[in-house]
Amino acid sequence: MKITILSLFPEMFTHVFGTSMILHAKDIGAVTIDIINFREFSTSKHKKVDDASFGGGPGMLLSIEPIYRALNSIEGHETATKILMTPQGMPYHQDKAKELAMKDHIIIICGHYEGFDERIRSLVNLEISIGDYVLTGGEIGAMAIVDSVSRLLPGVLSSEDSFIQESFYNGMLEYPQFTRPQDFMGMKVPEVLVSGNHQEVDKWRNEASMKRTKERRPDLLKKTVKKD
Ligand code: ADE
Repeated sequence: MKITILSLFPEMFTHVFGTSMILHAKDIGAVTIDIINFREFSTSKHKKVDDASFGGGPGMLLSIEPIYRALNSIEGHETATKILMTPQGMPYHQDKAKELAMKDHIIIICGHYEGFDERIRSLVNLEISIGDYVLTGGEIGAMAIVDSVSRLLPGVLSSEDSFIQESFYNGMLEYPQFTRPQDFMGMKVPEVLVSGNHQEVDKWRNEASMKRTKERRPDLLKKTVKKD
């Protein structure tokens, strides 16, 4: 899979994309990531990428031209899935990560500062928000997408790390897990987990997963029911 990111701050990605699972995904060739600084596509003398809002108002807006030119410079941009990061986008969740992991090429546009010219919306297929709060730019959201998508690509996770049992995989939160010591200051591991009875362990985990989801995220259960 190919991921291209348009950002004014490419250096923000260096550590995140050079570490842990994303690095591994790149190393095994599951994903290639290109980062384009769209300031390079500004035709103004001082490489300006923003301007004042027509009608007045505080702050500057990203202009459409540098982004339009940067997009057009990307091979295969016509058929790629083009995503704009914005708090006004559709809320991001695991199902969307799975959907994006099936694509050949995604392009993520990161805005920054006050906002962007509304016409930039016409250049993309999808607008994504990573939550109901305002970030300074789309970069942190783009990192969240790249991380969550990369780990779903074939061969990236080992069977031990498998996402099959992870939270959200089947629309529920994961069951509680424990490791040694069996007794930490009186806090004991549930007896069934050390019983060696795999059927009982599975049953306990299913029930614990359901209980935890009901308590913490009842909205997830409603979604699961609706889908079926
Ligand atoms: N840019 C600024 N805030 C954002 C958010 N919550 N999600 C995605 N992109 C953003």
